[in-house]
Amino acid sequence: ALATDEPEFVPAPHRVQDRTAEAPAGTTVGFENQADTDPAIAANRAWGREILGRSVGSRLGLDTIAIAKVETDAELDGIFDAATAAAEKWAALPAADRAAVLHRAGDELAARRGQLIEIMAHEAGKTIAESDPEISEAIDFAHYYAERAKDLETVSGAEFMPSKVTVVTPPWNFPVAIPAGGVLAGLASGSAVIIKPAKLTQRCGAVMVEALWAAGVPRDLLALVDLASRDLGTRLVAGPAVDRVILTGAYETAQLFRSFRSDLPLLAETSGKNAIIVTPSADLDLAAADVARSAFGHAGQKCSAASLAILVGSVADSKRFERQLVDAVTSMRVGLPDDPATQMGPIIEPANGKLLTALTKLEKGEHWLVKPRKLDDEGKQWTPGVKTGVREGSYFHLTEFFGPVLGIMHAKDLDEALRLQNAVDYGLTAGIHSLDSDEVATWLDRVEAGNLYVNRGITGAIVQRQPFGGWKRSAVGAGAKAGGPNYLFGLGEWTPAELPA
Ligand code: SER
Repeated sequence: ALATDEPEFVPAPHRVQDRTAEAPAGTTVGFENQADTDPAIAANRAWGREILGRSVGSRLGLDTIAIAKVETDAELDGIFDAATAAAEKWAALPAADRAAVLHRAGDELAARRGQLIEIMAHEAGKTIAESDPEISEAIDFAHYYAERAKDLETVSGAEFMPSKVTVVTPPWNFPVAIPAGGVLAGLASGSAVIIKPAKLTQRCGAVMVEALWAAGVPRDLLALVDLASRDLGTRLVAGPAVDRVILTGAYETAQLFRSFRSDLPLLAETSGKNAIIVTPSADLDLAAADVARSAFGHAGQKCSAASLAILVGSVADSKRFERQLVDAVTSMRVGLPDDPATQMGPIIEPANGKLLTALTKLEKGEHWLVKPRKLDDEGKQWTPGVKTGVREGSYFHLTEFFGPVLGIMHAKDLDEALRLQNAVDYGLTAGIHSLDSDEVATWLDRVEAGNLYVNRGITGAIVQRQPFGGWKRSAVGAGAKAGGPNYLFGLGEWTPAELPA
């Protein structure tokens, strides 16, 4: 167990929601979303300050949990053999017993909220405002998939995925919730899981896994690995014993996995290039705040983040929206996560490649509304940047950057805005701000993305309410949605009607 003095915190009485979406009919199970910590309560602020203070020199994680560093094929095969054997016992349990373990996993994750916040600040640079809801999401995955696990004994007709060994390869940007989601979905479906956390956020993954072990998930059934070579990576995701891979990462990574083995059973949630349309009927105050939050939450390092705002007609001409956006962006407090007042933290690695280009260069027709500034020598701390005049078909229009830079495009009408929004190769999240119901209906009909948000921000999907996943190059393989029934039931063949109410 991890030794930290975790002071009591007061849970928020209910989850603060601006999220009104309903889960699709027939796909809900009885469970309540976890409450985030309410910073309006003084005790919670004190709790947060203490945790963030510790995060600077955090030694939690790898010092207390050994991650097996696999050196040889034979060692890796041994882990697969043990997992396969453990899966047989696990799958033979009554579904209610599996569900009970997963519910306990949710409780163990909840008990580690402070530790997870500490490590996420230390390793991923996450502010508490970003990490706290992420932990709620991880806990939600546990209870949601626990309830869904019970369905597997009762549903007939749904195409259940009877994997023995699921390999989970999560990213660093949601270093607790995304690995937890993959692992818990795998376990709920009766499979063993081998997880390789992202290198940059191994401790986050390790503490998450430790919570599940503490809940009674056997170590053979849930193996935590680090790999000594790329060849071992290939064997991990495409070896003979793998019968399901859950990847969250770049589109190119999914293609690489596929190139190792064309018949790989892959559920991959991949890249995004997401836009919010703002029409003249919009509440511009709300729109500016939502665009800023969606673009610069976790310094833009979310596959769901807004990378483009498409301003329609008079919204572009009047400049009022742009002024409001500039106000919102320039008043954001940029800093390090150990300061609870920080609104935008650092990026995970010094800016390079595409992101550095986006932060430092302009293309034809563009100019900075807010020019990003580098605050440290290393290149990890930037102030948020906003460029306008982004042109159709430009590099900025079509490329995913994963960092704190937003581009503004102008469209003469909703048709043109939709064309710009749909022109990208990806289709993950999309938003519109409009108070005109006909416009919204047209948009809902024609927009090409998996998660659609009307008159709100486009990040922060909630388990069960907004199962998360995309279209086009934002999904590879089964195209399943996390936090919904897809990861347990068939690969896209299921319909809500086949599932129990
Ligand atoms: N699920 C996250 C969000 O909705 C992204 O992975 O922001």
